[in-house]
Amino acid sequence: MTEAIKRRVRTVESYVEQEVGTLSFTNAQSKLLHRFSEELAALGGPQSSSANAKACDGATELKRSFSDDQNALLTAYSDGLVSLLIFDGLQRITDASPPAQLPDLAALEERHDVLCLAGRNQILLKLVDNSAFAYDMDNEGKLVRLVANFKGGGLTVIHDEPTIKELSSHSGLALGPHTEAPYWCAVNAERGHSPSPSSLILSALWNPGLEPTLVIPLPPILEKIGITHSLALTTPNFQFTRSDSFVDGKGEDGRNVSILQFDEKVGWAARFNSYRFSLQDNASHLVARAYAALCQTIGEANPVKFTLTQESAMIINNVRALHCRDVIKDNRRVLVRIFGLSKFSSPIVISEDPLLLRG
Ligand SMILES: [Fe+2]
Repeated sequence: MTEAIKRRVRTVESYVEQEVGTLSFTNAQSKLLHRFSEELAALGGPQSSSANAKACDGATELKRSFSDDQNALLTAYSDGLVSLLIFDGLQRITDASPPAQLPDLAALEERHDVLCLAGRNQILLKLVDNSAFAYDMDNEGKLVRLVANFKGGGLTVIHDEPTIKELSSHSGLALGPHTEAPYWCAVNAERGHSPSPSSLILSALWNPGLEPTLVIPLPPILEKIGITHSLALTTPNFQFTRSDSFVDGKGEDGRNVSILQFDEKVGWAARFNSYRFSLQDNASHLVARAYAALCQTIGEANPVKFTLTQESAMIINNVRALHCRDVIKDNRRVLVRIFGLSKFSSPIVISEDPLLLRG
């Protein structure tokens, strides 16, 4: 490698590093978080109507215990300036090993350790001023989604492996780089649809194969494709297909959306899905070139890899970073996911507590 290329690689790497923050909990902070998580689980987890207030109390008390540096990192994320925030040093929830077979979804959802992890995620979201929520048309309207191979497509077949695999977090298939749906808008409600999630938080109940979650911060990608291509991506020349995770009969394909948008509060915000987005036929040559450059640059990106366990969690800024994963290798892997709504977002609210939005 020539010196010039080496320098350029170093620059890109340090740029990506700035996009990733790690907040390490001290033992005392971790115990305090665990106590609040247990209390939230006892209430029934994030789906309970008193969970939001409890998560707020927990976050407020935790913030008092944080150092100036820890609080500065939380503020930077809250202000939309960080792509990925990793929490480590968290307490293990349970020492029980995963069973040989993945339990069914309904049984998993009721487990105390799952409710505890979900409650913890809700508190961690509150630390960055994000509120846990669900969409009416996704995940049966529930706040907590368990990410695991319930529907086949992993490296090892499951019992009753279906022939047609669902391309969603409930299957074992590899998922290419994407932000979370819906894709109509990213910050303010448009055309009767709420914006896409501001954040998603993930932690692991079990990850015996230590399979990583991959994140691609977008600022270095946009820097690389340049201003003309970035501007072209703000035009409404893109379409997307309906997500497999949507409730039957709800959600739809969409047209005339942009990939990037400027917002007065956030700066810019992105929506993209490598396996659901495409260029519309009427798009101009310049937009087509910009889209090709974006896809190529994302394809060449070196994702940030992080292996989730019970002792960690990650919040992905869903308007500033893509995420993806390889095919699931160990079918016992279970992640606990919740969406977060930031202080910048203006959705269409169906009910306040628990927070349910029109998708
Ligand atoms: Fe995803």
